[in-house]
Amino acid sequence: TYVIGSPCIDVKDRACVDECPVDCIYEGKRTLYIQPDECIDCGACEPVCPVEAIYYEADLPDEEQPYLADNERFFANILEGRDAPVGSPGGASKIPVIGMDTRFVKAHPAA
Ligand code: F3S
Ligand code: F3S
Repeated sequence: TYVIGSPCIDVKDRACVDECPVDCIYEGKRTLYIQPDECIDCGACEPVCPVEAIYYEADLPDEEQPYLADNERFFANILEGRDAPVGSPGGASKIPVIGMDTRFVKAHPAA
């Protein structure tokens, strides 16, 4: 899968969303998250991000490694304020904007 790392936090340019052919990039409050089961590894999102927040999982720099598991948790865990996991909706435009973050992203210091 591809993964969105810390440079997206509080930037949320969203250029990646328009590139993704399967609409698997979901919007939280401070950042966006790639649904790992829906991403087809096409790589179209990676070069369009102006802050270079997107990496193929195997290319994540050490300091961005935690975002691999955290992007997954966004979909698998029940986020604070929701009563069910986001799961795999099959496209971000099929559901309302989620507008919530994982605990890990919430705890990220403001720039
Ligand atoms: Fe974030 Fe870059 Fe997409 S800033 S919303 S990962 S284009
Ligand atoms: Fe979409 Fe990027 Fe995956 S464009 S399919 S999230 S590699």
